[in-house]
Amino acid sequence: MHDSLLLFGATGDLAQRYLFPSLLHLQRDRLLPDTFRVIAIARSEHDDASFRDWLRERLGDEYDSALVDELLRRIQYVAVDLGDADGMAAALSRFADRPAVSYLSTPPNLFASACRGLKAAGLLEAPSRLVLEKPIGHDLASAQEIDATLKSALDESRIFRIDHYLGKAPVQNLLALRLGNTLFEATWERRWIESVDIIVAETAGVDGREGYYADYGALRDMVQNHMLQLLALIAMEPPAAMDTDSIREEKKKVLRALRPMSPADAAADSVRGRYAPGVVDGQAVQGFKHGGHDDVETFVGLRAWIDNWRWAGVPFRLVTGKRMPSRTTEVVVTFKPVTHWLFGPGERKRARANQLRVRLQPEETIELGLMGSLAASEWAANELQPMSLDLAMLPPKRRIAYERLMIDALKGDQTLFVRDDEVEAAWRWIDSVSAAWREAGTPVRDYPAGSWGPVEAQPFLPRTLTTHNGRKS
Ligand code: BG6
Repeated sequence: MHDSLLLFGATGDLAQRYLFPSLLHLQRDRLLPDTFRVIAIARSEHDDASFRDWLRERLGDEYDSALVDELLRRIQYVAVDLGDADGMAAALSRFADRPAVSYLSTPPNLFASACRGLKAAGLLEAPSRLVLEKPIGHDLASAQEIDATLKSALDESRIFRIDHYLGKAPVQNLLALRLGNTLFEATWERRWIESVDIIVAETAGVDGREGYYADYGALRDMVQNHMLQLLALIAMEPPAAMDTDSIREEKKKVLRALRPMSPADAAADSVRGRYAPGVVDGQAVQGFKHGGHDDVETFVGLRAWIDNWRWAGVPFRLVTGKRMPSRTTEVVVTFKPVTHWLFGPGERKRARANQLRVRLQPEETIELGLMGSLAASEWAANELQPMSLDLAMLPPKRRIAYERLMIDALKGDQTLFVRDDEVEAAWRWIDSVSAAWREAGTPVRDYPAGSWGPVEAQPFLPRTLTTHNGRKS
């Protein structure tokens, strides 16, 4: 396990909110080596002491102070301009004394120059590793350009591309459910499945990230990575073994089988929205400030088609949005009706398709919608009605997704990181969607904050999607 972490973007939002707290948790659980050190790197002028003070304040008083002190003692701070490869080499080469993990929590336009600087500093020599935050580029061409620079410094086996959804335990549980149950093994295909819904709804807005968001929108910020990774885990063929490359190979095949969107299909298979002022969780909130970038969506609904034998003809509906009525990440698999209906017309009216609903956030629950009869014995078992088997998963300990990913990067396990060809396949499909939107002139429709997107999004939303008070708004 490597014991030297160079954290670029150390004063950024992600580092404050997730990366340093993850390190604290790992240290609390004694999962880091005794010799572990962090080189915190950003542009701001700090020395070790002032950075530690700054970080202590941001970590707040939620943690045991001895624990915080122990982590802070392991941290050194270096101010560096990532655009200056020579300056980087001069400031960082002293840390090439041991194999390191360099973690770029920075905008993608800095990846190439940071990589050149790290190489010049001797920090990318084997067995050192490089971790990259999303987004990897803005489209296929820019992703390939970044990749070519990375590959000139180190090979794929030492490049770790983060998609933090893969570090979430409930996302891993999707694989366990799918591959550990005969029930699903037998039915996980087009003959028995009618449709699949993947929803990632957030109550938060874009606040504070307007600049980044104006260039990306929900399609590139959420669908290209998190949602397509969820889709790939749900739709991939069972891997030959649960090892890194068997799994990544199967995910890639699914992403490659996504049918490119054509301009002619854009109207039927997609909807874009942007939140206007409204009310979320009882609070009045402002609309998305687009500062002239009026072609940016904060909501997207897509119907994706996987052109392969398992999934031909089964729609995968992907919906994600900011400023929705509730925070909900869930997958809903709707099965086909039974082949032949034996019960009466009354029952037929009440009949609901079997549905597997896996909620990943905020709570982890699994619901299986079935038909059954609760009629008293003298009336025979013909009074069918919908029933639900509900399972609330109460994991012993919730971990931040980054805890798992940091440990894996330090240990060199790439299973939960995204391979180069997966990123390319995902961008290829996303590029087809944005080109289809451009050519078809797909409008961005306003929706009030606190609603489930524009009215045109209704056909993309599953019935299970409810507000806190149990009604679709
Ligand atoms: C990030 C996106 O990758 O994921 C954010 O850039 C989004 O816009 C976030 O809010 C959602 O992650 P989570 O873990 O809160 O569901």
